[in-house]
Parts: sequence; structure tokens; C-alpha cells
Amino acid sequence: MVTIGATSRASEEFAPALLAVALYKGESPRDLGEEAAWVVSDGDFGGKTGETALLYGQDGPAPRLLLVGLGERELFTLEKLRRAAATVARRARTLKLHSAAFSLPTLPDTAIREIARTVAEGARLGLYRFDRHKSAADDQDLETFWLVADEGELEEATEGAELGAKVAEGTVLARDLANEPSNVATPEYLAERARTIAEKYGMVLDVLDRAGIEEEGLTGLATVGRSASNEPRFIVLEHRGGGDRAPVVLVGKAVTFDSGGISIKPSAGMEDMKFDMSGGSAVLGAMEAAGALDLPLNVVALVPATENLPGGDAFKPGDVLQMHSGKTVEIVTTDAEGRLILADALSYATRYEPSAVVDCATLTGACAVALGDHASGLMGNDEDLVAELQTAGETTGERTWPLPLFEEYTEQIKGDTADIKNSGGRRGGALTAGAFLKEFADYPWAHLDIAGTAYGKKGNAYTTKGATGVPARLLVTFLLGRSQ
Ligand code: BES
Ligand code: MN
Ligand code: ZN
Repeated sequence: MVTIGATSRASEEFAPALLAVALYKGESPRDLGEEAAWVVSDGDFGGKTGETALLYGQDGPAPRLLLVGLGERELFTLEKLRRAAATVARRARTLKLHSAAFSLPTLPDTAIREIARTVAEGARLGLYRFDRHKSAADDQDLETFWLVADEGELEEATEGAELGAKVAEGTVLARDLANEPSNVATPEYLAERARTIAEKYGMVLDVLDRAGIEEEGLTGLATVGRSASNEPRFIVLEHRGGGDRAPVVLVGKAVTFDSGGISIKPSAGMEDMKFDMSGGSAVLGAMEAAGALDLPLNVVALVPATENLPGGDAFKPGDVLQMHSGKTVEIVTTDAEGRLILADALSYATRYEPSAVVDCATLTGACAVALGDHASGLMGNDEDLVAELQTAGETTGERTWPLPLFEEYTEQIKGDTADIKNSGGRRGGALTAGAFLKEFADYPWAHLDIAGTAYGKKGNAYTTKGATGVPARLLVTFLLGRSQ
């Protein structure tokens, strides 16, 4: 694993194999020597986002100079910087170098701590790969990634680098868990990984097995998990860093494989339903980071984990369940299973008298249709909480977009033979799912539908095909905001 730290040019040990400098579009480099000035003036490097130029034989601290484009100065975002850092880290690895350095740009209204955090995140996440099941894995990795700051800003840059590395490591865990196939990442496996986090950071862990789930009256979870031979688990992981203050509760859907159950899904693309535990994996990733950062906050993670499979003992369309909250639900389709396990977790959360509850779930194909890969759907019953999460999404590049929870959506899921039904049909599918969850939340609550953002068919500068880890960094950033 790469070590990320900050340094100044004056440092004696500073001798990277490559030094990267970010440049805006159309701007010429200063103090980088004649060759760098040429590649720009001759038009070989224009500074477009993602563009690079590699120069050899430099006089400076490193034999290689990598120019990396940031695009138009006026259109700068932290996300572009994150991607530039990832591009640099990847290029250094492709060149089989042991070390690389990135000269931190200065920005008029952004603290160096934030810049360093962003660059560290980009570098670590750009180097991520999931290859543990490959026999001939490429074990060549970059060993050191330096963030280069001015002497006077070194302390702040070091803090930012540490923060970014820890937040990224949480995302790495989220990605690893989500990328694991369902024959590895079973509910019990997730519980074991939660145990590792608990032991590492002195958190409190409680895991309910099938009998415990039934005893607690978590009917939704017990019912969805009934026909699976990999038993369901209800994972409760508590980080106690906030004294007697009301906790924030994070809830993550962890359907380790969603076949649809009796309302079975088409087989084409069904392999992607191993990612249906991405909400749970992001919550565990956020807890890993919360522990590493020792957040001065109480945080409770609730992860209902189960498979959704057909079988002789499976639940069926038309069945009526009495949920943990007491409300009754009519099953229209066994493929709307996520809301059933989340509903129970949400009513379980009431006992904590939480200051806020945020759930995240690969909940509806409709949300992925509405927002594509580029934003998670955001709904809730509390404007301030929704705004906080949207801001956290902006700073991390894990963007969200608010969707409405009008009363009419609640009307749409009124039950015929029970209080509510678990599907309101195709129209407004992401909103009726949100409206369903709202019935079980009696505290400030928000919901992130990550069906379109949690995994992808192709990566970008700092994601690879497969799990993205969304919204682990968003959640940590939200928690950091609540820590002040
Ligand atoms: N896990 C799926 C949602 C999903 C679909 C995530 C595609 C990622 C990609 C969820 O359990 C589901 O099946 N939802 C149904 C709900 C419908 C039956 C009311 C859906 O979206 O089709
Ligand atoms: Mn489903
Ligand atoms: Zn599902």
C-alpha cells in the first residue's frame, strides 16, 4: 500500500522519481525550466483536464517532470484536482516508479488542508485495484506519494494528507467489500469484517443471527432472508466518541445477492446484483474511517445483511408482513426487498433517539434511470440534513441530487389488504421507495439511493470498473461536519 505524506522541496530526503505539476489551460509554467516552457508554447501541452506531458532529464529534485492539466482556471473544482492526482499516481505506477510527488497548487479560497486532503484521496483511490482473485496479480505498486508544499504550510498539508489517506482507506474497504462476489461476501463475512473494525478501534459490536433477528421482530429482514442458506445477519456497530450526545445513525442496505426472489430478475446482468450490498459496505467503510479519525461523535452503523433468493421457503407476492414498527406491508413483488430490510433497521434506530439517521441503498433501478451514474438520489424529511448531505456530496465529488417526497407518493403505496405495499409500480419508482422508508423514520432522516453510483461499467481517473465506494467519503465528510 502506498504511503502518502507531505514534504517541502527543502527536505533532504526529498528525491522523488517523478515530480508532477498541475497547470491550468493556456497558462505557461513558471520556474520549471526551458523544456516545460517549450512544450506549452509549442502547443504539445494545453492544460486540458486530464492531459499530461512527461519530460525527462530535469535539473530539479526529480529526473522526471509530469505536467498535468486542470482545465480552465475559472472552472476549477476539487474534483478535477482529485482526478489529476489520480492520473499522476497511475502514471507513476505504469512507469514502474517507486515514488512520485505532486506539487500542491495554491487556490485563493481553499485551505491547503483541503487541497492536500483532495490530492491524497485522488492518489490513493487512483491506485486502487481489486485483483485478489487473480492468480497472476501485478504486485508492482507505487511506494511513496509525496505532496509538496511550501515550508510554511507543511504542517497543514501533513494534516490534510493524513485525513485524505484515512478517508480514502475507508473507501478502499467499501470497494473491496462490494467487489467481493456473493459467495465470499456473505452476511456472516460482513459481520466478521465489522468485527475487525470494532476490534481495531475499540467499537462496540452486536451481531444478530437468524434467531436473534426473529426474536427482535425484524420481520422484513427475517422474511427476505428466510430461504437463503447463507443466513442473514443484523450488524450493529457503535463508535462511541461523543460522550452522552445523541448519535448519528448510518443505515446501509446489504443484500449480498439480489436475484429478485420469487419475482425473479432477468438473468442478463444479474451478476451485478452482488453489488446490492454497496450501501452496507459504504457504511462499514465510513465506520473504518470514523475509527481511524477517532471522531468526537457517537455513530451507530446498522447493516441488515441478507441474500434475496427464491426457494420452497421463500416469501411470495401477496404475503402480508407485520414489520418491526408494527405497520403491515403487503408484498407486491419480492424484488422490492431492500425497503423491507431498511424499514426494520430504521424503526430499530428509534431506540437511540438519534440526532440524524442517514440510510444508503442500491434501492431502485428508477433512480439510476433518472440520474445516471453521476449523482445519487437524495430524499428526506429534514431540509437541513438534506442540505448538509448535498454539501458533503459536492466537496467529495460524490454528488447527490434532491428528489421530492410529496404526499402523493405515499398515497401511491397505500395497501389494499395491509397498511402499505412494497411497490407503487414503475412510475416514480425512486420516490415511492423513499416514501415507503419515510413511514418508518420518526426522527430527522435522509435517504441516499445509490443504485446508479455505487458501481459502474467503466471507471474514471480514480475509480475502476466495479465498486466505487460511494457514498463512504460523503458519509465521513458529513460526520466530520457534525464533529465541529
Ligand atoms: N437492488 C435492486 C435495485 C437495483 C436495480 C439496483 C438495478 C441497481 C441496479 C432492488 O432491490 C430492486 O430490485 N428494485 C426494484 C423495485 C421494483 C420491483 C419496485 C427495481 O428497481 O426494479
Ligand atoms: Mn430487488
Ligand atoms: Zn435489491
